[in-house]
Amino acid sequence: MIDLSVHVDGLRLANPFIVASGPPSTNANVIARAFDEGWGGVVCKTIVLDSTKIVNVSPRYARWRVGDEIVGWENIELISDRPIETWEDEFRTLKMRYPGRVLIASVMEEYRRSAWHEIVERMQRAGADAIELNMSCPHGLPERRMGSAMGQSPELLREVCGWVREVARVPVWAKMTPNVTSIVEVAGAAVDAGCAGISAINTILSVMGVDIDTLRPQPTVDGYSTPGGYSGRAVKPIALRMAMEIARAMGGRASLSAIGGVETGDDAAQYVLLGASTVQVCTGVMIHGYGLARELERGLRAFMERHAFRSIEDFRGHSLKYFTSHAELVAKKHGAKSGRDAVWSADRFVQQVREEAE
Ligand SMILES: Cc1cc2nc3c(=O)[nH]c(=O)nc-3n(C[C@H](O)[C@H](O)[C@H](O)COP(=O)(O)O)c2cc1C
Repeated sequence: MIDLSVHVDGLRLANPFIVASGPPSTNANVIARAFDEGWGGVVCKTIVLDSTKIVNVSPRYARWRVGDEIVGWENIELISDRPIETWEDEFRTLKMRYPGRVLIASVMEEYRRSAWHEIVERMQRAGADAIELNMSCPHGLPERRMGSAMGQSPELLREVCGWVREVARVPVWAKMTPNVTSIVEVAGAAVDAGCAGISAINTILSVMGVDIDTLRPQPTVDGYSTPGGYSGRAVKPIALRMAMEIARAMGGRASLSAIGGVETGDDAAQYVLLGASTVQVCTGVMIHGYGLARELERGLRAFMERHAFRSIEDFRGHSLKYFTSHAELVAKKHGAKSGRDAVWSADRFVQQVREEAE
């Protein structure tokens, strides 16, 4: 009776679970494995036209453990260092082998219109069902004005997403960085420029820790470090807040592919309740393996059975209506008058502080 399939931006997925761009989607072998294990879609590791410039360091991961469990994960890994020609061949092979599965090309380029045209055209010719624009990688690439350096500027986003729209024949999702003051402003710029959907979030800028014996920050590469991207279970509350804000601001103008700390069917259900059509997973797959798809499916089905939901659309966005302002909460709790009073006394407090400062 329960139908997990999703129709979004002209794509049909057997279920809402997508392997996010990262190590679990780094080549055709592992992408095939993901499809075999039942993932509805895969976003490949981010591709660039000239991969010779991508040079990784090691170690590039640091984990935060509580007991035996990994709750947070920091990485300073760059995008794919494999040539685009290899990716094109692998996309063609994968699309022949898995015609019914959704394969999304994650791409990133420098600030050059012709480069964005070329990479989008090549990946859609190779069979990509959709394109995800990586406007969000927070380390390494921003130093070259790529990734989150673009995703943090509404003006650049509008311009670059506009270039992509000029050539795109498949749906385009813009993947947002959480390292901004207003996720709604940057997501809105991408949608205004013609993106069909928003993917959020990429990793949160972080310093995992400082080794208290060596006094060196982690992850340590020959004694030195650089801030990296934080992911995994610990980021879920932040990602949920951003998903909620995007869904509320978009009001159906764009789709949402939610990302951040998903490890269970209940986690996925929460993102759908806040408006997501699909849910992406990266760190969860690195920790639990591709078989996690079955666990996510089992958990989501159990949640839907419990509430008598028969399809994803039955509960997508259901919980958005329960968000309101703090003043409204006070009004609801203590009556309309004290709600107004709370706002009034806050205003009066600000006025008093100003007067005292003058
Ligand atoms: C090791 C690692 C590498 C990643 N590489 C990419 C990448 O190449 N492109 C991209 O868009 N996101 C990349 N991400 C970000 C993930 O796709 C995802 O947005 C983020 O990790 C949050 O989701 P999670 O908590 O499920 O991992 C990477 C994440 C990790 C942990």
